[in-house]
Amino acid sequence: MFEFKHKNILDTDQFSKEDLDFLITKTKQMEKLLESGKSFGILRGKLLASLFFEASTRTRLSFEAAMERLGGRIISTVGFQFSSISKGETLYDTMKMVEAYADIAIIRHPVEGSSRIAAGAVSIPVINAGDGAGQHPTQALLDLYTIISEKGTIDGLSIAFIGDLKYGRTIHSLINLLRHYKVHLYLISPDELKLPDSYKKNLSGFPISFEETKDIKAIWDCDVAYVTRIQEERFTDHMEYERLKETYKVNKELILASKKNTTVLHPLPRVNELSTDIDDLPNAAYFRQAKYGVVMRMVLLCTLLKVPFGD
Ligand code: NCD
Repeated sequence: MFEFKHKNILDTDQFSKEDLDFLITKTKQMEKLLESGKSFGILRGKLLASLFFEASTRTRLSFEAAMERLGGRIISTVGFQFSSISKGETLYDTMKMVEAYADIAIIRHPVEGSSRIAAGAVSIPVINAGDGAGQHPTQALLDLYTIISEKGTIDGLSIAFIGDLKYGRTIHSLINLLRHYKVHLYLISPDELKLPDSYKKNLSGFPISFEETKDIKAIWDCDVAYVTRIQEERFTDHMEYERLKETYKVNKELILASKKNTTVLHPLPRVNELSTDIDDLPNAAYFRQAKYGVVMRMVLLCTLLKVPFGD
C-alpha cells in the first residue's frame, strides 16, 4: 500500500508522480463519498485553524466547506488587522498558539516562503494556501484534478497558460505538477510577464516540453487554456500594471475559432482577461474547477491528519 509521507503541503516540488496518482485516486473516492452523503463525520472532533492574511474567496471558503463537510470544526483569523501580528507579534509566536489550539492549519500570507516558516514552528500539519508570488500547491492539485475530470487524461495534451506568468503563483505551481506528464505547454504572455527562469529550469529532465509566445492565437492548438489575472498587487510600478492589464482578452469568438474544442480554466477571480460571454459554453470549466477544490481539499485534510477513508 502506498503511503503519503509528507507532514505539510508547502510547495509543488515536494510531490512525486506516485503522490499525485495517490491524491487523484483518493479524490475520485471522496467525490463518491460526498455524493452519497457518507463523508460527514470522517473528521469529527478535529479542528482546522484557517489563517488568511491576504484576500481570498475560493481557497478559504472551499477549505472551510471541506472541513465542515467532513464533520470537523474551524477556528479562523482573516487579515493582519484582526490578529496580534498587527501588535508586533511574530508569525512564529502566532503559530505556537495555533498549534496549542488546532490539529491542522492552513495559511495564506503575502510573503513568499512564509508558510515554510510557519510549518517550521509547529508539529501540526501546515498547508500553504498561497504565499505571495511563490506557490499555491492546493490550487495546482485541484487544477490537475480538473484537467483529468474534464479531459479524461493528462498525457498527450497541449496546454496554454495565458497572462501573468511572472507573478501568478497558480501557474508556477501547476506547471511544476504537469512536468510529471507528457504534455506540451504554450506559455503566452507579454515579454514583461514571462515565466521566471527558475521555473523553466525545473522542467528539464521531465517529459514535459514548452514554447513561449506572445500570440494569443496559440490557444487554437490547445486542449486546455489556463487563463490568469494580471496580478495587480504584485507590481512595484503601477504604471506598468496599467499598461499591461488589457494585453489579452479571451472571449467567445476566440474560443469558438479553436480547432481543438479548448477547455477554458481560470483559478479566478477574473478581471478583464476572461469574457463572461464564454460562461454558457460547455468549454467553460472554471466554475466546475472551483467546485473540485472542495473534494480535493477534503482529501488533503484527511490525508495530513492521517484519517483513513474510502477503499
Ligand atoms: C488565485 C490566487 O490567490 O493565487 N486565486 C485562487 O486561489 N483561486 C489567483 C489570483 O488571485 O489571481
